[in-house]
Amino acid sequence: MKGSAIEARVRDLREQIDYHNYRYYVLDDPEIPDSEYDRLMRELQELEDAHPELITPDSPTQRVGAQPLKEFTEVRHVVPMLSLGNAFSNEEMADFDERVRKLLKVEQVEYSAEPKLDGLAISLRYENGILVQGATRGDGHRGEDVTSNVRTIGAIPLRLRGQGWPEVLEVRGEIFMPKKGFEELNERARRKGEKTFANPRNAAAGSLRQLDPKITARRPLSFYAYGWGELSVERLGDSYSGVMEVIRGYGLPVSPELKVVSGLQGCLDYFAAMSEKRDSLDYEIDGVVFKVNDLEQQERLGYVSRAPRWAIARKFPAQEALTTVKDVEFQVGRTGAVTPVARLAPVEVGGVVVSNATLHNMDEVRRKDVHIGDTVYVRRAGDVIPEIVRVLPERRPGDAREVVLPKHCPVCGSDIIKPEGEAVARCTGGLYCPAQRKEAIKHFASRRAMDIEGLGDKLVEQLVEQELVHNPADLYRLNKEQLMSLERMGEKSAQNLLEALEHSKETTLARFLYALGIREVGEATSQTLAQYFGTLEALEKADEDALQQVPDIGPIVAAHIAAFFRQPHNREVIDALLEAGIHWPTVELPPEEAQPLVGKTFVLTGTLSRPRSEIKAELQALGAKVTGSVSKKTDYVVAGEAAGSKLDKARDLGITILDEDGLKALLASTA
Ligand code: IVH
Repeated sequence: MKGSAIEARVRDLREQIDYHNYRYYVLDDPEIPDSEYDRLMRELQELEDAHPELITPDSPTQRVGAQPLKEFTEVRHVVPMLSLGNAFSNEEMADFDERVRKLLKVEQVEYSAEPKLDGLAISLRYENGILVQGATRGDGHRGEDVTSNVRTIGAIPLRLRGQGWPEVLEVRGEIFMPKKGFEELNERARRKGEKTFANPRNAAAGSLRQLDPKITARRPLSFYAYGWGELSVERLGDSYSGVMEVIRGYGLPVSPELKVVSGLQGCLDYFAAMSEKRDSLDYEIDGVVFKVNDLEQQERLGYVSRAPRWAIARKFPAQEALTTVKDVEFQVGRTGAVTPVARLAPVEVGGVVVSNATLHNMDEVRRKDVHIGDTVYVRRAGDVIPEIVRVLPERRPGDAREVVLPKHCPVCGSDIIKPEGEAVARCTGGLYCPAQRKEAIKHFASRRAMDIEGLGDKLVEQLVEQELVHNPADLYRLNKEQLMSLERMGEKSAQNLLEALEHSKETTLARFLYALGIREVGEATSQTLAQYFGTLEALEKADEDALQQVPDIGPIVAAHIAAFFRQPHNREVIDALLEAGIHWPTVELPPEEAQPLVGKTFVLTGTLSRPRSEIKAELQALGAKVTGSVSKKTDYVVAGEAAGSKLDKARDLGITILDEDGLKALLASTA
């Protein structure tokens, strides 16, 4: 290629990459698979390596360019970064609306509504369309220059799209860490014995305040714009929502939840809807922000001290609360994992009374330095189990006690072992341990396993405690009299349960395998095993080598499966179950040519037009494996509406992403 041709290609590649970033981050509607995006990036990188004189600071290859800093420098905000007034109830919202209406002398006000993101505020300065500075809020007047770190965040464009932007444009918004990324970051830290972050906000703040941008680049941060600061033009529009539309057009992501609502009732409805939606969002929010939408009205309302009169944050109840640790007990799970659980003085967190919190494992207890008697912060987010986030050491009483891992299982007395280098301690009692037995039977009966309707947790506990059931096969030997001897069990419920047990005998091989509760064998693996071996006998005979031939089964899972079937006890239970009449239709092992998707792994995510189970069955019938989480082994991710972190991960790993039409095309091509 000639010099001018190379230059043109470099320009073209940058434009294409910027465009695809825009599709991905702003429109949430990527046009090309990640592999294609990566190919464009690689080509650009190669051309720039060969012609370094063509590198510009706004090139998409230059996100992680800078060397580590010694310290951050100070930035003065010409237009201060303000805070918001809060409303904690609908009454306080009504007061706010009334104040606004009185001051404006109007009957009804139009508000823009959007989630209050739980991250940290940032000001992004664009000059002639190029990102020149990123600064934290600091005290509102002076913040820190975090430009090199901000540049590593994919959602933040290094240059604006289109044309006609003002010479100076400061965009303000929130940098946050999506929930999934936060969980993964903490899980990794936990495994490595490192300190975990208390919540996604701290994780986002900690990541942005790294002196080495390479570290920030590895953290899953994202960004939504929600305002502006210095502008070299008078205005970008007449309304907040209008300006945000313009800003979105410049290539900056704006919350897809942004909506214009009418009057107080509109605000209350939006808040109620967002409270419902909250847990299903990919990121944490701590409320909703309402802003008077008309900019002229905003101006008339003005400011009080450091907050605008035209905006308010309607907050959700706090997700963290202070309480004390009364005791730490040890719970034994289905696989014998011994988990320390803190018994707390009951405290309300986010509208729910919490009296237990998980401590995960002993390493975590040590790291957080939890003692019995300590005052702690507990946190409950969404449907996650409440956690202790941090201890207040200054409030530790003189008689606080250390938490000690017992040597023997608190339930069955068997030895507890904690293999060197592993975080999890285990009871060695196996099915001798009533705790493990209870959990194994609960799992056996669960909906996705044998689906024994009416056999709830409480009932299982009674059955095990009364020694009526020692293993799953015993369930099928129960009679009506035995059942009626249990608490809250009338003749009718006893009869129903017997019928449910009878009904459960008709199952599938995959469900049966899953119900056995073999370690590391979840639903997807059970499906794979059933499809691959076809019969229980074939599976029982398979040694570790044979098991590792099965797609997606590695040495660890293979070892667990082989060990399970080697145990005479397990074989006895299986025989008893079969004798009781459990049966399944023969698994048809389709001829190879009817299974064009053998060896391919799919993940379904987002809202699809048909039930997932239906699509899953269709794919499995063609030999594909359908799993729940995206990994390097995934071949395709089928993404529907509002796909979240799985889609992100797939993109990160460069996995082929299909929409429903893409899937249709793929299936058609295999027919
Ligand atoms: S508007 C003048 N909108 O909340 C108004 N703030 O409590 C400036 N925040 O410092 C803020 N989501 O970090 C606004 N949609 C949103 C927000 C939001 C989160 C944060 C922001 C601000 C703090 C004020």
